[in-house]
Amino acid sequence: MAEPDLRGRVALVTGAARGIGAAIARRLAAGGASVLVTDIEEEGARTSAAEIVEGGGEAAGLGLDVADEAAWAKAMNAVVERFGALDVLVNNAGVASSARPLETLSLASWRRLTSINLDGVFLGTKHAIPRLAERAGRWHGGAAIVNVSSVMGFVGGRHAAAYCASKGGVRLFTKAAALELAPKHIRVNSVHPGFIDTPLFRAGVARMEAAEPGSGERFRSAVINRHPLGRRGAPDDIADGVAYRVSDAAAFVTGPELVVDGGYLAQ
Ligand code: NAI
Repeated sequence: MAEPDLRGRVALVTGAARGIGAAIARRLAAGGASVLVTDIEEEGARTSAAEIVEGGGEAAGLGLDVADEAAWAKAMNAVVERFGALDVLVNNAGVASSARPLETLSLASWRRLTSINLDGVFLGTKHAIPRLAERAGRWHGGAAIVNVSSVMGFVGGRHAAAYCASKGGVRLFTKAAALELAPKHIRVNSVHPGFIDTPLFRAGVARMEAAEPGSGERFRSAVINRHPLGRRGAPDDIADGVAYRVSDAAAFVTGPELVVDGGYLAQ
């Protein structure tokens, strides 16, 4: 895909030490954005940022737990201190379902998952608004937030109630925020990956396997069969979608879902 022109913009990406977030950070930097690469694993965030810099892009790494409100306040100071502004926020950080039947799912694990996958999106949006609004008028397409949800923000998954609730929540949070932030020229969109080959997907398969031997492998091949395009997605497939939605090519797009799923939901 041709890189969208993001020269002069400053972006913050969460959960960007690896997987989809790392691919998004690379893609935004390739388009010319300066990227604050953040992750709860600070070392991983710094390594991802260093790789971008080695490739000729502009990036810095920062430790950020998206469920920690005080950490968000610090991250906003850090991005302004390092790059002078904020134009793009990508709320990507997320954790996989614990793959447990509902009657054995503890309230603590429900809360842990939703605190990252859903509260994290709220906190990031809340703290980014003043910064994004500051110079949204500078860009034809305004400032932009992209929230990474999932196909499981549309349909249920077995033993994935907390995950589905969090991702469905992100989908509608996005629409409500899009309405509220339109007058400030901040666009808000959600991107919904199908099953993507990342450490999160592999950890989910391993958890199923541990709970019920054979089930993980059955799930892995079933997943490929469920994607009419005949493969699991790659992190770059999602990065393409995110880069489009934050760029001026999507200047009149706010609120809707961009599904990037190899046809998973078309069935
Ligand atoms: P991953 O596990 O490969 O990477 C997630 C990153 O988020 C990791 O670097 C991890 O350290 C970080 N992270 C975890 N908790 C955090 C926290 N509290 N604060 C900040 N960072 C934290 O996962 P992947 O696959 O790259 O997923 C990225 C997003 O895409 C997630 O929101 C996930 O739910 C979503 N997604 C993934 C799919 C897949 O099949 N891999 C499918 C649909 C959606």
